[in-house]
Amino acid sequence: MSALVVENLSVVFGRFRALDALSLAVDAGEVRAVIGPNGAGKTTLLDVISGITKPRSGRVMFGDTLDLTRRSETEIARAGVRRKFQKPSVFPALTVRENLDIGCGTAMVPRLRAARIAEVLAETGLDPREDALAGSLAHGEKQWLEIGMVLASDPKIILLDEPVAGLSDSETERTAALIHALRRPDRAILVIEHDMVFVEAIADRVTVLHEGRTLYEGGMQGARADARVIEVFLGR
Ligand SMILES: Nc1ncnc2c1ncn2[C@@H]1O[C@H](COP(=O)(O)OP(=O)(O)OP(=O)(O)O)[C@@H](O)[C@H]1O
Ligand SMILES: [Mg+2]
Repeated sequence: MSALVVENLSVVFGRFRALDALSLAVDAGEVRAVIGPNGAGKTTLLDVISGITKPRSGRVMFGDTLDLTRRSETEIARAGVRRKFQKPSVFPALTVRENLDIGCGTAMVPRLRAARIAEVLAETGLDPREDALAGSLAHGEKQWLEIGMVLASDPKIILLDEPVAGLSDSETERTAALIHALRRPDRAILVIEHDMVFVEAIADRVTVLHEGRTLYEGGMQGARADARVIEVFLGR
């Protein structure tokens, strides 16, 4: 069953087409990686799904009835679609725990928050750092905290933009394990990444974007063997 269906999506900036009649469907329970060269439209796709950018045409269906292109950022987040941005955006002057509290959102009742924060601290492995200021964390820990903030509200769709950019190999492996642990039959995870070892470790399927269109969709092994993918992306 599809958790998210992108239909015929076009985004135009001036005379430039960032997304060009793009369609893709992500299943519930799936981890999908979106890969492709710089400027392919990967972040733009997440911007449309999360309501930051409105498309020229097309729609993004979440479930049977909700077209996310007609909703505000707040409505989309409340519906259970949460995003981690390309640049880590934690609140540096607040503690890890306080950041996770913000991630819980305004709708969660106070008595559930502490338990939820404890769960997320355990899942992300940040429990020893709960009282540390977010600004004092190592880069990898900041990335995990931001994933934790996304996770705190228990989202149905998780959007991650370059979660391992700038991480060491061991931090990258830990992030892959974290994403594996986040898989659930009723949740879809969409990850943009340039690190192909990481992508291979986490993704059920990959979508290769090029000039706002899908160049390839399928397993990572197939992507590595695809002549067009090698030409525009993997061969570089
Ligand atoms: N607000 C905007 N106004 C004009 N052009 C934009 C805007 N946002 C993105 N673009 C352009 O759209 C294209 C796609 O950008 P996008 O950020 O989606 O690429 P990306 O695939 O995420 O690339 P990267 O791997 O470098 O992060 C780029 O050429 C970019 O310059
Ligand atoms: Mg990007």
